Amino acid sequence: MNKAVDPALMHAAEAVGSTTGPTPAQLAAYWMPFTANRQFKKAPRLLTSAAGMHYRDHQGRQILDGVAGLWCVNAGHARPRIVQAIQQQAAEMDFAPPFQMAHPKAFELAERVAQIAPAGMGKVFFTNSGSESVETALKMALAYHRVRGEGTRTRLIGRERGYHGVNFGGISVGGMVGNRKTYGLAVAGVDHLRHTHDAARNAWSVGQPAHGAELADDVERMVALHDASNIAAVIVEPVAGSTGVLVPPVGYLQRLRELCTRHGILLIFDEVITGFGRTGAPFAAQTFGVTPDMITAAKGLSNGAVPMGAVIVKDEIHEAFMTGPEHLIEFPHGYTYSGHPLACAAGLGTLDTYAEEGLLTRAAEMQDYFAQGLHSLRGEPHVIDVRNIGLVGGVELAPLPSEPAKRAFDLFLDCYDKGLLIRTTGDTVALSPPLIIERSHIDQIVDTLRGALRRAA
Ligand SMILES: Cc1ncc(COP(=O)(O)O)c(C=O)c1O
Repeated sequence: MNKAVDPALMHAAEAVGSTTGPTPAQLAAYWMPFTANRQFKKAPRLLTSAAGMHYRDHQGRQILDGVAGLWCVNAGHARPRIVQAIQQQAAEMDFAPPFQMAHPKAFELAERVAQIAPAGMGKVFFTNSGSESVETALKMALAYHRVRGEGTRTRLIGRERGYHGVNFGGISVGGMVGNRKTYGLAVAGVDHLRHTHDAARNAWSVGQPAHGAELADDVERMVALHDASNIAAVIVEPVAGSTGVLVPPVGYLQRLRELCTRHGILLIFDEVITGFGRTGAPFAAQTFGVTPDMITAAKGLSNGAVPMGAVIVKDEIHEAFMTGPEHLIEFPHGYTYSGHPLACAAGLGTLDTYAEEGLLTRAAEMQDYFAQGLHSLRGEPHVIDVRNIGLVGGVELAPLPSEPAKRAFDLFLDCYDKGLLIRTTGDTVALSPPLIIERSHIDQIVDTLRGALRRAA
């Protein structure tokens, strides 16, 4: 069947180049995720290959990757061990059912992940994405309280400005107004702690801000309102990424831990972006010295090469489920592709690469130089704050009057034009380069940003 094609797409396809770019019909067919579709299709940005710190676009231009793809390619692109592991696995065995059956690499990877997780977190449940890891952890928390006879603990507590993926549980505990505006109420019985961003007291902090530990006392307010016997879990990102790089104030996570322990509430760290070396240790839990009850992970687990996520769980939580008749399923949950052979192969190749090159602690070595570079942007046009931890950076811009997010988006387009891939969220530029980054790349990121800020309206 012939479908009418928008003339604007004809134009865009010609501009991209018919040999390498999509045809107008192809442009029309793809409904892109989290993308301004109409804007994109007028001037498509197409990446066609990648190696190390760089992408190449369809015209052969080299683009420095300032965001590890999407916070996931922590070891850099096209790393040989990962490529070979995936190729070999695809030829050896494509798929194995994960329910009542398994394949050896799933066990091998679970053990390897547990080895780098905080002490006592020895159990690993595989998913395919960060969103699925979040849903899995929330369900696990509810089920855990039930198996222990505390079934009234059903309430889930998230935090304002939290991002926990796109599924119903995740958008409910998440604290993004856009989700409520677009989808209304999702899961009921959810509350939120206040977010920790306090520009008045903490702007320009290098590393962890000094003020705000007391915001963790919101847990006490929840307990005073609902009673601890009704609360199942608190979920937070140790460093909130998608709502603008919010680094936890000194002592905040420690206080959350103390209060959750005091009230028998499970503490879940969503480490989908902070996991696998981003903050200078394998997990942010280790960077900040706070052990949660569960960690949700994805992205850097398989270096973004094959979709994969995981929930890393304290041993005693797992043990609580291991009761009842042995032929019965203890936790009725899982995905067709949980622990997929290709994902496990990619995960093992990824962990080998991290170990061989010391990448899980490299952010700790590079963070001072990275911070220095980013904070040198203070005083450039429109910059109202700079935030950083490990190899995560946030540069916040004053919004254009009555056009929130536009100034940052224009900056993103300008940087891309100059050969640098950044990411923007609202009016904040978020940076999370591959952990193999060298000083010269940091210089290039900072110089390109500086130039774009000086050109920005
Ligand atoms: C903290 C956090 N949780 C969950 C997710 C969702 O992960 P995914 O897009 O793999 O579903 C993300 C994605 O960026 C995230 O940053």
